[in-house]
Amino acid sequence: MRTKIIAGNWKMNKTLEEAKELATEVKNHVTKEVTGNVKIVLCVPFPFLLVTKDHVLQTSISIGAQNCSEHDSGAYTGEVSAAMLASMTIPYVILGHSERRQYFGEGGKLLAKKVDKALAHSLIPIFCCGEPLEIREKGTHEALVRAQVEESLFHLSEEAVKKVVVAYEPVWAIGTGKTATSQQAQDMHAVIRKQLSAKYGEAIAQAIPILYGGSVKPDNAKEIFSCPDVDGGLVGGASLKARDFVDIIKGA
Ligand code: 13P
Repeated sequence: MRTKIIAGNWKMNKTLEEAKELATEVKNHVTKEVTGNVKIVLCVPFPFLLVTKDHVLQTSISIGAQNCSEHDSGAYTGEVSAAMLASMTIPYVILGHSERRQYFGEGGKLLAKKVDKALAHSLIPIFCCGEPLEIREKGTHEALVRAQVEESLFHLSEEAVKKVVVAYEPVWAIGTGKTATSQQAQDMHAVIRKQLSAKYGEAIAQAIPILYGGSVKPDNAKEIFSCPDVDGGLVGGASLKARDFVDIIKGA
């Protein structure tokens, strides 16, 4: 049995005070209401990493960043390195989110380098993949997602790939309120797991968590998370409201 992971991706939202308030509210609800074996991760904007971490100390909640640089250090104004995140003992980092791919031109080869940097500093990459609407409509979504996974992860050793979390996020479901059906999610997760199994063997494929993201809400979380190959979720909009986020966690 894989442990379920529910990660909130706050994206570029909240001010410092609001971030503290949200982290505190999530913590309070989680402490009172969440039982069982669910890993909870809050992926917050860089400036709030340390303060949110302080607000969830001694709970089951971990903190993650939303990106890191492909470089070690140096003259890269505005960038944040994996070493910096590791030095703050931040355990998780989202890589390859579709918004990074779309608005910042991040492609598979660059993401392979970012995955390497994250792993070199013992960060757990939450590696995102997923197809845009036109690819889904053309029916080539499986091929595209397989290519994304292959391009950024398949250079990894067995030891390294075991540390990765994959998140399947169909772009057409992100922020649209139009979630994938549980069957669509399960089908794609099974495709990814089969691909991992073909490359790394069944034991490793079975151990890698594959999260679903895209309009996960309290009212659809339970059904999606009950699919055999869905190991939790990466939640955007609904992670900005403590009540909704905790209800989603309970769905796992
Ligand atoms: P929404 O939950 O707002 O659709 O966002 C999903 C997402 O992009 C999480 O990374």
